[in-house]
Amino acid sequence: MSLSFVIFASGTGTNADALMEFAARESKAARCLALISDRAEAPALEKARKRGIEAIHIPAKDMDGQLAVLARLRPDWACLAGYMRILKAPVLDFFQDDMLGCARVLNIHPSLLPAFPGMRAYEQAFAAGVPEAGITVHIVDEKIDNGPILMQRKYRREAGDDFETFMARGRALENDLYVDALRAVASGRFELRSQSPREGA
Ligand code: GRF
Repeated sequence: MSLSFVIFASGTGTNADALMEFAARESKAARCLALISDRAEAPALEKARKRGIEAIHIPAKDMDGQLAVLARLRPDWACLAGYMRILKAPVLDFFQDDMLGCARVLNIHPSLLPAFPGMRAYEQAFAAGVPEAGITVHIVDEKIDNGPILMQRKYRREAGDDFETFMARGRALENDLYVDALRAVASGRFELRSQSPREGA
């Protein structure tokens, strides 16, 4: 059986589109059931429609609406792709997997977690002057950018990088990393690694 998933996205949806393309190309591995957005005007919704995937606008506050869609579609996994809201506990509970010990919910975050969680991660990493940056796909829990790590990919900050070229280097890795992570989950061959505790946590 292929893995079924829904995507939650708030914005442009380049990662969402890469995941939908993967599902279209490798339908034996994964099926994308719907894309859910908290923003009616999110370009990600249009990307789903173009691919013939159900595109659903649900305001972030409407948890009953989210749960009703999940109960109808019964996805195995959820992939957050630029979803700018925190998933509420009942939604996370829907995806809870006791064998795995966590929720079957993935997120992509543009830093080498546990470094630079939260908003504007590219800006944070650039401002900190790190010689090596990266992208993380991780499991979502009730805290922000906190759950176990599934996959990471690193890139170097080159001597001449300004913020735009630095971020472009990272953005160029994001889509493939997310697809590789979802492919690993679909194959059942993956390991999760806890994040080391953050300072002050
Ligand atoms: C990406 O940088 C992703 O890592 C972060 O939000 C951004 C979403 O971009 N979580 P897109 O909508 O997938 O283009």
